[in-house]
Amino acid sequence: MLQLDDLSFAYGSVKAVDQVSLDVAEGSIHGLIGPNGAGKSTCIDLISGRQRPTSGSVRFRERDITRMAAPRRRHLGIARSFQRISVYPDLTVADQLDVAGRLVGEQDVDAVVAALALGPSLPLTPSEIGYGEQRRVDIALALLGAPDLVLLDEPAAGLSREESIALADHLAGLVRERGMTVVLVEHHLEVVYRVCDRLTVLEQGAVIADGRPQEVRRDPRVVEAYLGRSAA
Ligand SMILES: Nc1ncnc2c1ncn2[C@@H]1O[C@H](COP(=O)(O)OP(=O)(O)OP(=O)(O)O)[C@@H](O)[C@H]1O
Ligand SMILES: [Mg+2]
Repeated sequence: MLQLDDLSFAYGSVKAVDQVSLDVAEGSIHGLIGPNGAGKSTCIDLISGRQRPTSGSVRFRERDITRMAAPRRRHLGIARSFQRISVYPDLTVADQLDVAGRLVGEQDVDAVVAALALGPSLPLTPSEIGYGEQRRVDIALALLGAPDLVLLDEPAAGLSREESIALADHLAGLVRERGMTVVLVEHHLEVVYRVCDRLTVLEQGAVIADGRPQEVRRDPRVVEAYLGRSAA
């Protein structure tokens, strides 16, 4: 469904993404993992259209979208969440979902609300709900309009282990229910191994491993990249 081919991007002299190639299969949850600064968020920016690569290509359903503007990609069915919460502080959760849902033609906001267990948060503003709920609102916003491909950048950032696992299970359920495809950037490896069908591991902008989670987690280069990290 999504194909990155030899994709590179540099911030000045820093090679943030260095000749990355990967294939995301339709209907899968594809994990993008790696240490801090590995280039995960930059990859998401290149797929969503927030940044343009210096070289290489992004193909979505056989179509070259490398230079396509972000709003057009959203129209094609590619949606994203951000590593930091992007909800509007003064609107209730219900209003945010309503406004955003209209913009993207969502027919069934209630289904997204139910899937992410956001019912109790609907009458409240982001400052009145917990951090875990705020993260789920952010994900709900990305899921509106039933995008075919959802890019999630650390949806569980700042959550406890239990909250992260609960969130991942919500997500996995929603993916199966709605037939979506997900690229998931995630630091909690337990979450990654639990829900991802496939993993690509980045280190210093380059792919160091790619495959099924059971294989990747035993890969010596991956073990070394994560050595000494409490998340492992
Ligand atoms: N706006 C920027 N300006 C300059 N350099 C940047 C910028 N954003 C990221 N970088 C650098 O690009 C590289 C890749 O960063 P990126 O944010 O993509 O990594 P990441 O894997 O998402 O890291 P993290 O796990 O910390 O979120 C890093 O070396 C980072 O310092
Ligand atoms: Mg990041």
